[in-house]
Amino acid sequence: MDPREKVIPLAPGRPPLDTLRRPIHDLRISVMDRCNFRCPYCMPRETFHESYRFLKSSERLDFTEILRLARVFERAGVKKIRITGGEPLLRPNLADLIGDLTQLPGIDDIALTTNGMLLAKYATELKAAGLARITVSLDTLDPAVFARMSGGFGGVGEVLEGIEAARRAGLAPIKINTVVQRGVNDHTVLDLLAHFRGTGVIVRFIEYMDVGTRNHWNPALVVPSRELREAIHARWPVEPRDRDYRGEVAERYAFADGSGELGFISSVSQPFCGDCSRARISSDGSFYTCLFATQGVDLRAPLRAGASDDELYELIRGVWSGRRDRYSELRASLRDASDLHKVEMNYIGG
Ligand SMILES: C[S@@+](CC[C@H](N)C(=O)[O-])C[C@H]1O[C@@H](n2cnc3c(N)ncnc32)[C@H](O)[C@@H]1O
Ligand code: SF4
Repeated sequence: MDPREKVIPLAPGRPPLDTLRRPIHDLRISVMDRCNFRCPYCMPRETFHESYRFLKSSERLDFTEILRLARVFERAGVKKIRITGGEPLLRPNLADLIGDLTQLPGIDDIALTTNGMLLAKYATELKAAGLARITVSLDTLDPAVFARMSGGFGGVGEVLEGIEAARRAGLAPIKINTVVQRGVNDHTVLDLLAHFRGTGVIVRFIEYMDVGTRNHWNPALVVPSRELREAIHARWPVEPRDRDYRGEVAERYAFADGSGELGFISSVSQPFCGDCSRARISSDGSFYTCLFATQGVDLRAPLRAGASDDELYELIRGVWSGRRDRYSELRASLRDASDLHKVEMNYIGG
């Protein structure tokens, strides 16, 4: 056991802390395991092909079940909910769920991550339901590179239209998630920034991670944030900004000329497990305490068997109190472990 770990006794009524004294602050809910893209770093086509068995709709949590779990997690300390997937906008009537989640008094932030393909269609509806802000994934503005990174689906034009629709609908801030891979899209990063600088849209660069077991992760394709930041700084000087809150994943920077903010998510080169306060629920209701988890705890079975809110709360509290995960910090030693069957990202969400 890591010397920093300590089993914290379960104090009734008090939100749980894990063995590293981390609270549950964020809940990421995957509402859909399917996706309309096949980004090779997430859902490579050779695995997620036409006969791949995705969940049946009856296997996914319905909105009543998601809402119930969100309430129980709220009691366990969750303040922020992110809706993700797969592609969350493929889930029919998603705005209804957002509307219900905004009614939870303890939740002060609801966010959504989307690949943007369906955003032009849904932006107004999502805003009307109470969604305040949005994150759109966009790896490049170059059509050929985009096609390579989306597995041949969608297009830059549709995603930009989605971003524009989000802006018109009043979703703010709009953040862009950009996964950077060496030799794939790193040469297009400055063009992407040139496009969004000065518009209020915040681009966040994400180091290519070894999520799941099927994305053939190759550390040589990781561009460390520091290297990227130096290249950006040489073109437009940037300055660090304070983190918004403990456990925030992105390191924030601002253009020195006042053209706005950008961010770096460096899970590979600078693991941030120490402050990680994120819990995840997969589309079929498994509870994961780490993005790199090898197994989850089934919440759907007790939900469907009639468990009370108190029973669900005790289950969640027990799991969180025993949480020891710090995969990113231990990556090098764990990667060699042959029995590591990490869960796929489309299933639990990024
Ligand atoms: C799994 S996606 C789900 C939501 C939606 N489909 C989207 O792409 O925004 C959430 C985020 O995870 C990121 N992601 C997926 N695979 C990744 C990887 N191997 N390394 C780093 N980020 C990854 C995506 O770029 C996206 O921003
Ligand atoms: S990153 Fe998002 S858009 Fe790309 S395959 Fe994964 S879930 Fe789909």
